[in-house]
Amino acid sequence: MKAIRIPKPMEIVIEEVERPVISGPNEVLVKIKRVGICGSDMHIYHGTNPLATYPRVVGHEVAGEVVSVGETVTNLKPGDHVVVEPIRYCGKCYACRKGRPNVCNELSVFGVHEDGGMREYIVLPENQLHAVDPSLDWDEIVLAEPYTIGAQAVWRGNVEEGDTVFIQGSGPIGICVLKMAKLAGATVIMSDLKEERLAFAKDNGADFVINAGTLSIEEKIMEFTKGEGANVVIDAVCLPSTFALSLNVASVAGTVVVLGFDERPSQIPQLQITKKELTIVGSRLQTYQFRKVVSLLNENKLKENGLITHKFSSSDVKEALTFVEENPDIVRKALIVFE
Ligand SMILES: NC(=O)c1ccc[n+]([C@@H]2O[C@H](COP(=O)([O-])OP(=O)(O)OC[C@H]3O[C@@H](n4cnc5c(N)ncnc54)[C@H](O)[C@@H]3O)[C@@H](O)[C@H]2O)c1
Ligand SMILES: [Zn+2]
Ligand SMILES: [Zn+2]
Repeated sequence: MKAIRIPKPMEIVIEEVERPVISGPNEVLVKIKRVGICGSDMHIYHGTNPLATYPRVVGHEVAGEVVSVGETVTNLKPGDHVVVEPIRYCGKCYACRKGRPNVCNELSVFGVHEDGGMREYIVLPENQLHAVDPSLDWDEIVLAEPYTIGAQAVWRGNVEEGDTVFIQGSGPIGICVLKMAKLAGATVIMSDLKEERLAFAKDNGADFVINAGTLSIEEKIMEFTKGEGANVVIDAVCLPSTFALSLNVASVAGTVVVLGFDERPSQIPQLQITKKELTIVGSRLQTYQFRKVVSLLNENKLKENGLITHKFSSSDVKEALTFVEENPDIVRKALIVFE
């Protein structure tokens, strides 16, 4: 079978490799159908993801069809359409014991720390696969993983019906957060620097959008919220400056959700944290959000609605990565199609 491998940064090869086989009773063999290209795949390709090791088969946004199952597998059968939950964890450390295996001490992410989905077949344990209604389009279900990132941010922010949520950044992650925040019953304000991205956010349910390049975010948020501020601020831009801004525009008793991996410090005075009694939380990957996202997909409540802008055949993966790299203004989400 074919596997797409990144042997070292800035290099990509399509190799002929042995098809993986089921070696444990709880394992499942899956034929890959779609893989989404994510910013973190691009970082691994560019050599700018400090956590990745090489050579690596990337791809953690994955949908496929079950081919065969190990003898103790009960929840899946051949022919099922599945999405991959890309985290593997120890089950014993503090995070795992606290129900937060996404930050396990021994966390291994499919397509980052171990080989991922850009190959014709994969074998994974049953608990990393979730069956989805087979009548749904592959293009819809391959977005399950980015939706879980949005679901996690909304859960970490404790977004409740009636809350006003400000999401910074209308890139693919901002849009996934938006969809989940709307489903939670929030009023959502979005920002971006690009009008086209703001228009897309509006098309996907944003109640109010602000161009951060031309307008004062502080003024506009206070205007829209009648001086209250945003009850939950979710930063999907992830710069030191947007982190600092999040605290300025959060309401009293508000929550700030941080998604970024930027190592540079932000200047954050403690006064407003104490005065407004803010809660500041990180949100990384997801904890038990697949079940929820799969239900929403099955109920037709999560639709890609233009989020997928480009599709490439698996034999054109090099062209795909180059295209994504060179056209950040027109690519929202690009997919690799395996037939
Ligand atoms: N914590 C997690 O689990 C997790 C998972 C996936 C992605 N991320 C992070 O989320 C972030 C967003 O991911 P993405 O794929 O949507 O990225 P992206 O680069 O496609 O989107 C970012 C958007 O922010 C806009 N932007 C830039 N500066 C801005 C500013 N000052 N104000 C408002 N908008 C601004 C850009 O125009 C762009 O549309 C990345 O930093 C990524 O690392 C975190
Ligand atoms: Zn991703
Ligand atoms: Zn653990």
